Formats: sequence, structure tokens, C-alpha cells
Amino acid sequence: MFLKIHPGNVKNALSDEHKPRLRGFGLGRDGKVYLEYLPDNTDKRRIIAVLPGSTPVIYHECMSLSKEKPHSCWHMGAVSLALPGNPPLPITVNVERCQPAPVPIVKDLTESILGRPGDFELLELIEGDALAYVMPELSPEDAWLARYNLPVRILRKVLEFRERQKQVLSEEQSARVPEARYIPSGGEFVSAVAALVYGPGGSAWEAPLLIGPKGSGKSTMAEALAAVMMLPVNKIFGGIDLNAEALLGSRTLVPSEGIDIVTEARLRSACRAAGMDAEPLVQKLRGSQMRVGFEPGILLQAVERGEMVIVDEINMLIPEVTSLLHGLLDWQKTLPVPGYGVVKAPPSFRLVGCMNYGYAGTKPLNEAFQDRFRPVQVPHLGAEQLAWLIVRETGCKESVSRKLADLFSELAKGVANGDYSERVLSVRSLFRIAREEMDGCGTLKTVAVSVLTEGLGDKFEIDQVTDIIEACLRD
Ligand SMILES: Nc1ncnc2c1ncn2[C@@H]1O[C@H](COP(=O)(O)OP(=O)(O)OP(=O)(O)O)[C@@H](O)[C@H]1O
Ligand SMILES: [Mg+2]
Repeated sequence: MFLKIHPGNVKNALSDEHKPRLRGFGLGRDGKVYLEYLPDNTDKRRIIAVLPGSTPVIYHECMSLSKEKPHSCWHMGAVSLALPGNPPLPITVNVERCQPAPVPIVKDLTESILGRPGDFELLELIEGDALAYVMPELSPEDAWLARYNLPVRILRKVLEFRERQKQVLSEEQSARVPEARYIPSGGEFVSAVAALVYGPGGSAWEAPLLIGPKGSGKSTMAEALAAVMMLPVNKIFGGIDLNAEALLGSRTLVPSEGIDIVTEARLRSACRAAGMDAEPLVQKLRGSQMRVGFEPGILLQAVERGEMVIVDEINMLIPEVTSLLHGLLDWQKTLPVPGYGVVKAPPSFRLVGCMNYGYAGTKPLNEAFQDRFRPVQVPHLGAEQLAWLIVRETGCKESVSRKLADLFSELAKGVANGDYSERVLSVRSLFRIAREEMDGCGTLKTVAVSVLTEGLGDKFEIDQVTDIIEACLRD
């Protein structure tokens, strides 16, 4: 559930009554911040955890959440004190109602918040060698990275990479670095980032190949990878009309700047001899002079600038194009461009591929080509996260998003049983339903039936899907 933490919650946490009950803040090995505290009227310690991010996730079970109108409490106010970058309050958080299991604490944060060391009983502070796990300090600008729970070694390499990018990106390039909107459903995001920074300083990187059903978030994830690496994005969409020339570029006639001095001098003296004004002729000649130049294509430009290329629908590329990419995916990281030369990609260049299996127009990837990628499965989100995503994308009520997320789970069961095709399993359709319902196009049920069945041709399939909607979205 989404709640707001207000300044009053923090004030309450730091009141004479509650401050002594805050026993210790610590940074967990998993990137979450933990607070060990004594609840009101008891000496039995408890913990609350927060995962930092643009919408921090709080793991907490408390009376204030069971009320008819759940509200934020002083425990939440207290743990928000440890959020990196001290975000201004009020702040919206997503509360997961659960008592978090304690994990080892790699850094005691209590001193910086309460001015004294932490007093932990439930949480174990690990020291010595284990300090190798300590999370690097994240600047406020990088604080959102914590939401992806990257292992510390990978996070360090990412931060190094980002530091270099901060020095070299132009304003135009920074504007092409996307926002990270991807919500991971498991370890897939970490696997993809790991591949992008293999080797010291990321020098032996490999291209992740994001594979999953339609709408599972592959393109969103590819953009989030670019955001993490602070790389401007260039998108290529696979298809039969995408050829090598479009990617690499071609020779073309370009206007040449000026005319050579000898020609101009001869023209001027001839005009003088004939008693004519030379200027209009010289101007005309300047405009009409052309030379053969090279107009670089999208891939060549991205490679030369050391940016990120996202190849969407990679299994729809024609062989002429896939063979072009081979050199970029090997350790040499080179791109041969006929008539231009062999271009070596700068160290910041990265490529990410996306594809779904088995849809019209796609074909299995050539084995040698696929072997050059780190394959990463991108599944649909689970019901809880999906409900959160629907609220984020459409602004609908949480009760509506939950029903839609449950409907999606039920539809997925039918697809797994072979009752109907995967076509109905569309996250984008859930957004449409939520939006149309909010705009008063009908009840949730009627809108869902319309959105989910009007694209189906098979009567039996339509009936099956309608039955499930009827069962899940009872008014
Ligand atoms: N895990 C996720 N995190 C964030 N957004 C998601 C996620 N899954 C789906 N979405 C949302 O669902 C919509 C479809 O996502 P996206 O275009 O990334 O999917 P895709 O897998 O690339 O789809 P396709 O196979 O059709 O290309 C977007 O609006 C996206 O924001
Ligand atoms: Mg896509």
C-alpha cells in the first residue's frame, strides 16, 4: 500500500518519548536500511527496513496499518531518517506489510543519525573482512541506484563508469540518457548489469539479450540499463527494411565549402576583363560545388560516440545486419564499415538486444550470433508488483489495480493450461482498462471484456476469457 511519511512522523520519532526507543540504524548486506527499535509499551525489540529508491519500499508490520484508514507511524518516520540524500518530506513510500527478517549489518549508521553507536540485538554487525561488503556511499544523484540491489562489486564498477560519463557527456547526450522505470521481478536486472561491467572497469563487457513474452518490460529494462550506466540511447528496431546502409551510412554528395582560390582568382580576372561584376558568379559557384562525403548511419554514430545501442526485436533482423554486429559483440569490439574503415568502439560503447520467441516475423537466432550475448529471461511481474505498476502508470485506485493484477494471474493460468492463446496476456491492456474505467467508459468488468476480447477472433476463446473476467471482477 502507498502511504506518505510526513514531517510529523519524524518529529514524533525524535520526541523524548520515542528517541530512546531507537536502538540502532544499520546498512544491511542486501542494500536495505534497517532500524532496530522498541515498540511502545514493550521491551521486545523489533525491526523495520527500507529499500531506498524513487519510491522507497518499507517492510513493516504495525497496528497503524491494520486500521480502517491505514496511516504512517513514528517507526516509519524514524527509518526514513536513514534514506540516502535526505529526501524532503512528505515522501511517498510503498509499504509491504511484513516483519523483515534480520540480515547482517555491514555499516552502523546510528552515529550519523543519533550521535551515538548502535545497540543491536536482533541485527548482527559484521566487521573485519566482512567490511569488504560495505556499500559505497551513494551521492544524492546516484541514490536511486540502491533500488536495484546490485551486489557491491558490481555497484562499485557502475559508479566508476558513471563518474567517467559525468565528465564526458555533452548536454545533448545527457538529455538522451533515459529514466530508469523498470521494476525487476527477480535477479534478471542484476545479471544484465553484471554482463555490462564484466572485467576490470567493465572492459570485458558482454551484451545482454533480454528475452521474454510481449509487454514483460524488455524495452523498459533496456532503458533502465542505459540509465544505470548513464549512457545516451540509440534505438534500432529489427525488420526486413533495416539494412546495412541504414546502420552504417553511405557515400553521398555534400555541398563543398567554398571554391578553390585559383578558380576564384581566374574567374574574377576574366570578369574584370569583360567589365562584369564577379560577385554574383562567385556566389553561385560556391553554392553549386559538391564533393563526395560520408553520411554516417545510426549504428556507426552510436559506436563512434561510445553510446548505447538497444536493438529491439533482434530476431527480426536480416542476416546481413546480424553479421555486421558480430564484430561489435566479440572481444575486439570493432565495426567494419566499407569505404570508411574499421571502427574500434570506445570503452563506453554498449549494446543490449531484446526479443520475444515465436511471434510473427521472428525467427530463431543463428547460434553463433546468440552465443555472443548473455541471455537474460525477463518474465512478467508477480501480482503484487504488477498492481503497483498499474497504479504508477495510470494513477488508478489501488483496489482497481489489485483486481486487474489478480485477473492477469488468472489469465496466465488459462494460457499455461492451453485454454486460449497468449494474446490476452497483455500488461498494456491492463493499463487501457484502468484508464478507460477512470474516464467513465463503463464498469471495470465491461471495459475489461471490451479491451480483452475485442481483438480475439475465436468465439470459444472469447467465452473463456469473458468467464474469467466475470469471475475476477465481480462488481
Ligand atoms: N517490469 C516492469 N517494470 C516497469 N514497467 C513495466 C514492467 N513490465 C511492463 N512494464 C510496462 O509495460 C509496458 C510494456 O513494457 P515494454 O514495452 O518494456 O515491454 P516489452 O517486453 O519490450 O514488450 P514487447 O515485447 O511488446 O516489445 C510499458 O508501459 C512498461 O512501462
Ligand atoms: Mg519492446
